[in-house]
Amino acid sequence: MAFVVAIDGPAAAGKGTVARAVAGHFGLSYLDTGLLYRAVGLAVNRGKDAIAVAQKLDLSQLNDRELRTQAAAEAASKVACEPDVREALIATQREFAQRRNGAVLDGRDIGTVICPNANVKLYVFASPEVRAARRYNELTMQGSECDYQTVLKKVQDRDALDEERATAPLAAAVDAKMLDTTSLKIDEAVARAISIIEQARRDQ
Ligand code: CDP
Repeated sequence: MAFVVAIDGPAAAGKGTVARAVAGHFGLSYLDTGLLYRAVGLAVNRGKDAIAVAQKLDLSQLNDRELRTQAAAEAASKVACEPDVREALIATQREFAQRRNGAVLDGRDIGTVICPNANVKLYVFASPEVRAARRYNELTMQGSECDYQTVLKKVQDRDALDEERATAPLAAAVDAKMLDTTSLKIDEAVARAISIIEQARRDQ
């Protein structure tokens, strides 16, 4: 069976950065599952039917730059609450996890629902204030006009939607290793993740 790393956590905790670096380090394929929800959310904003889009979505549709916008993130959080949308996206994610070279998937429910048998589960988190500061910096670097308090409020609102939804809410799997990035630099967070995964490989 291929080696699978499941990485979950709230918005802007650093899981995407950690996931990409870990995939590069171990030569694993990487899927940012948030892009699937963003793609469905954007399509809904453009008048399409969420479930029909989710059923037909394929990975070649995930390169649209619009998927990285705040509007796409908010639309994603809304469609992510629909059980039928989540259901329609399961097969694509599980298929990806079977890549022969192994895979890293990051999202909200990878360790709990999509890949409950993953070889390693990481839950990456940080305080809401630090996550909002990171998101604020990202947005201002992209040239967006925003203020910190609004970004913080959006981070908190999205946390609430993710944690309180009935289907596959954001949660750490009971066997996940916790990685708190509140006071870690990117390279420190990546180094910790790599060492957790190396340990898990030795223990297999
Ligand atoms: O990086 P950021 O947290 O801003 O966004 P993302 O990971 O691209 O996810 C966008 C939204 O999609 C999240 O707020 C979740 O509501 C949803 N999502 C989910 O429900 N399950 C996943 N596996 C991935 C994302």
